[in-house]
Amino acid sequence: MSFVDIEHKGRTVVATINRPEALNALNADICSQLVDPLVALDNHPEVGCILLTGNERAFAAGADIKELACHTYESALDTDLLVCWQRFAEIRTPKIAAVSGYALGGGCELAMMCDIIYAAENAKFGQPEIKLGLIPGMGGTQRLTRLVGRTKAMDMVLTGRMINATDAERFGLVAQVYKNEELLPASLANADKIANFGKIAARAAVETINAADNSHMAAGLLFEQRSYHALWATADAREGMQAFLEKRDANFSGKPKAEKPALSVTPSATLAT
Ligand code: CAA
Repeated sequence: MSFVDIEHKGRTVVATINRPEALNALNADICSQLVDPLVALDNHPEVGCILLTGNERAFAAGADIKELACHTYESALDTDLLVCWQRFAEIRTPKIAAVSGYALGGGCELAMMCDIIYAAENAKFGQPEIKLGLIPGMGGTQRLTRLVGRTKAMDMVLTGRMINATDAERFGLVAQVYKNEELLPASLANADKIANFGKIAARAAVETINAADNSHMAAGLLFEQRSYHALWATADAREGMQAFLEKRDANFSGKPKAEKPALSVTPSATLAT
């Protein structure tokens, strides 16, 4: 059964979770149907951004509890339960989550694996696993804490309560709230904008911002400097600056600056001398 629609809109790939009868609860099929194609497209030169969405009622109401309930400690350990989602987090192309309705448990965690979350006014975020005798298991304790801070994360995870879109924006979980009907067009316009910048720079921006989670200030600043310097080797940086000086739009290619320089001396020539 197909639970995910993948569509190309210009340089943006729109992935829509489509399991409305279960409020888009995330089962193993959704994981493979979503993650495998997106991983395959990650290095595609014509793909500059990924937009992940659900339907108006639910982005995703969590991991599929019916599926979870079949597991034992041994099977969860043996199958590394839910770790398949880590491959989604590792996709390097910028990822946007456009959230309408419920983003609960694994749904909230999947949104947080994206680089930007946009929300509709009707969005509801929460980590209700405590009500099931569980804790978040797709990165929630770590990503939520980094995004909203320890105090708010503790409150959300320990009470299991939902927060609305306004609070999610106020807490720093959501970048922007849109009217329900404007969420998709606005998110797509933002995705399109990102997708048409140079992919090398966009990926470097994501990687460098994410480095802030894992490093102290001095190491983070050094990593930023080195990433920044590395971008000077790209044709896109040359093109971007040149276009500014020539007062025109840049035409980013995502290609390296030059082909590998040819050897001036061939091995046979070396042998002959
Ligand atoms: N797993 C499986 N099925 C789910 C589901 C989930 N996470 N969430 C909703 N559904 C199903 C319901 O079982 C129901 O199916 P049936 O019609 O076959 O009974 C259908 O979706 C509609 O749901 P409701 O009738 O419950 O709709 P509602 O409007 O009354 O309530 C809701 C909506 C408050 C979101 C409620 O469905 C709910 O609380 N869902 C569970 C949320 C949750 O606990 N999520 C965390 C899951 S665990 C997890 O994600 C672990 C992790 O960290 C990875």
